[in-house]
Amino acid sequence: MPIQDMKTLVALCQRRGFIFQSADIYGGMKGLYDFGPLGVELKNNIKAAWWRAMVYARDDMEGLDGAIIGHPLMFKYSGHTETFNDPLTECLDCQARMRTDKMADPSVCETCGSKNLLPPRAFNMMFKMQYGPTEGSGSEAYLRPETAQHIFTNFKNVLDTTSRKLPFGIAQMGKAYRNEIIARNFIFRVREFEQMEIEYFVMPGQDEAAHEAWLETRLAWWESIGVSRSRIKIKDVAKGDLAHYSKRTYDLEYAFPHGYDEIEGIANRTDFDLGNHTKHQAELNLTAKVTPNNHSNARLAVQIDEDPEAAAKGINGPKRWVVPFVIEPSAGVERAMLAVLCEAYTEEALEGGDSRTVLKFKPHLAPIKAAVMPLARNKPELVAKAQELKNSLQKLGLGRIMLDTSGNVGKAYRKHDEVGTPLCITVDFDSLTDQQVTVRDRDTMTQIRLPIAELNAYVRGVVEGN
Ligand code: GAP
Repeated sequence: MPIQDMKTLVALCQRRGFIFQSADIYGGMKGLYDFGPLGVELKNNIKAAWWRAMVYARDDMEGLDGAIIGHPLMFKYSGHTETFNDPLTECLDCQARMRTDKMADPSVCETCGSKNLLPPRAFNMMFKMQYGPTEGSGSEAYLRPETAQHIFTNFKNVLDTTSRKLPFGIAQMGKAYRNEIIARNFIFRVREFEQMEIEYFVMPGQDEAAHEAWLETRLAWWESIGVSRSRIKIKDVAKGDLAHYSKRTYDLEYAFPHGYDEIEGIANRTDFDLGNHTKHQAELNLTAKVTPNNHSNARLAVQIDEDPEAAAKGINGPKRWVVPFVIEPSAGVERAMLAVLCEAYTEEALEGGDSRTVLKFKPHLAPIKAAVMPLARNKPELVAKAQELKNSLQKLGLGRIMLDTSGNVGKAYRKHDEVGTPLCITVDFDSLTDQQVTVRDRDTMTQIRLPIAELNAYVRGVVEGN
């Protein structure tokens, strides 16, 4: 049974070094979190799993890492400056600020019950900043509210440097910023977060089939990181609730302790973004390539043969410009972390009335893959052997292997259960003569005696899921 209570999870994340309130020694900043020694590992492992599955395992994807600071015109023409708004109201009695679209009753203050509320106004969620040393117009820029726009503005660059043909996609992971009216539910809704986004470019007309295919691909990925399909609801977003660029969106909603809520949006963005950036490039005449009669309004576009059959036979016929349609699976790293933590959290009753807390992460996501411990910390020969095994395991490149010299194996097992370490490897006095170690499994708690010569292959097998 996944966790039902967010407070317990928040406490564990703080106690064990997964997640800290940012700047907590100064009272903290709401909606900002820092990731501790185990949090950074979990986060990196989730991102690596996404990149492996979405880029390396496919033959139709390229990667990108765009700038975080965005050009004001980019966000003007993407529609964000005008429409990336949430409806904000304020209570005149207690000054609480609220998002009216998230309130059960928009006429009553959620904090004090007053009906003395200001009429809702559109609040733009982008963080505006001054770029460079000169203040004033011409120096403003924005922290990107989504990573997507750099994929669109680099569409031609990627196309030209990789010779891709439709369909193909561009993947990007990175920070995004939103000045959320209310940050809440731990790392679920924050003001600085990371996205894992794909823009998948297809011929117009093939967009709806591609949209359905991506829905299946993404559900399978969530399952592969331990987020059970049975706990994800697919929401076909109502027309009136769609983002300004979307023709249709599926939201994947996970059963968090606070209720079903979005972990990923899979949108059919049509040709909205490529089309708009192209149109405005032409309007602004920003580049020499753009003139009224050289298909300038097709700059972020592909050239296709009018007669594909003739082209396949090598006949060079006329070509035309097409602005591709885009399917966009966009997931949040923090929300993925939270869902993975919720799914992994387990409390188990043990014999004798005792109990234990275990994070049953999939091994490839576990922050520590294996802990190697000498049975006693004051026996140099045991410590040296444990260090040697740790170094050897570390070289496998599976992720973090920990040398744990606390010396109390029972306590160490409990600690490693609570942070989700799949394997604990104990070096005892017999190990020095029989060249074997004790390997304890996190989930079953069974212990086996394993020859040291087989240890690396065994650990690799567990971490890689074999
Ligand atoms: N480019 C499309 C896009 O940004 P979105 O539905 O607004 O779409 C995509 O965001 C994902 O980013 C969400 O499903 C969520 O996982 C994550 N996300 C959005 N806002 C967030 C926030 N304030 N805190 C944490 N994650 C957020």
